[in-house]
Formats: sequence, C-alpha cells, structure tokens
Amino acid sequence: MSRSLATSLARLPRLASRANPLPQSRFSSSSLSPRSLVASTSRRACPTQLGHAARRAFTTSTSRRHGHIDPPKPGEELYVTFIDKEGDEHKFAVKEGDNLLDIAQANDLEMEGACGGSCACSTCHVIVSEEDYYDQIPEPEDDENDMLDLAFGLTETSRLGCQVKMTKELDGLVVKLPSMTRNLQASDFGS
Ligand code: FES
Repeated sequence: MSRSLATSLARLPRLASRANPLPQSRFSSSSLSPRSLVASTSRRACPTQLGHAARRAFTTSTSRRHGHIDPPKPGEELYVTFIDKEGDEHKFAVKEGDNLLDIAQANDLEMEGACGGSCACSTCHVIVSEEDYYDQIPEPEDDENDMLDLAFGLTETSRLGCQVKMTKELDGLVVKLPSMTRNLQASDFGS
C-alpha cells in the first residue's frame, strides 16, 4: 500500500465525523445540562419559527380590536344592542357619535374591522333588526355599497358598522352580527 493511500485511509474517520455534524456528545447528559439544551434549542430556532414570530409581531389584528370609546355623560346615554352569532344580546350605553365598530370592539364583541374603519372591507357587517331604525340611518355612500356587495349574508337592512354613528334617533337600535364575515378588501380588486 502506498504511503499516500495509507494516509488517506487513516484520515477517513475524522473526515466522516466532520461530514456528520451530530457528535454523540451533543446529546449526552454529561455534556449538556437541561438549561444549556434549552439555550441551544432557542439559538437554533428554525427559520419557520422565526417567520411565524415575525409575522405575529407585525399583525395588526390586536390593535384593530379594542376600539376606544369614552363613556356617555349621565343623562346623555344612548342604547344599542348587539346580537352575537350565538344569539346572545349585549346592550350598551354609548354616546352620540360613537360608531358601531368602535362600540363592538371596545366591548370585545367579535367584529374584526380589518380596514380599521376606512370603508375598505366588509368585516364590520351588521344587520339592523328593525326597518324603522334602518330608515333613520343616513343613506350609505357608494364606497359602503360597494363593500356591502362583498359582504357575506347581505340583507335588505345590512350596513357597515364603522359607517353607522349613534344619534338620538338611533337610541334603542338593535343590530345582529352575521354568522360569518368575508375579508375581501377594495385592494383585492385593484382600482
Ligand atoms: S371596518 Fe372595514 S369597512 Fe368597516
């Protein structure tokens, strides 16, 4: 056997261990404490996990929820009732000018409001229970009608919650939340 062949054969185990980056010692209990295993795991977070974390960091759904409204002054309360998907009623005392999206979100009702109230989605769709109240709400603008056309379960008395502001005429209003909303936005269709 030539000297160079013998040298190459002698190096084979070392080369093999470099090619396989999983030395036994990495998993032996003597070489790593549980704490160092945790640290090692977190350092080695896979790109997918990091991607999920990054996406979560940039999601805006949390900030869209929990709209802020101030309580009405004593004696100036207007009442609105939401009927949720389960049929449960939620009645709130609110002040003039509050819109239905802000009221729903401030009270943790399930109303997404994906566009933040800029009339560019249909996730704040509500169904006004009584026609008399529906007639008291100012007519929808073209933007609202366009978005309503995309709403799931559109009815004759459907409106977008972000576009309906409480007025004295709407005191006692009852609206239902549809069983589903469709998150189609104006931008999905280009301009
Ligand atoms: S929140 Fe998007 S249209 Fe009302």
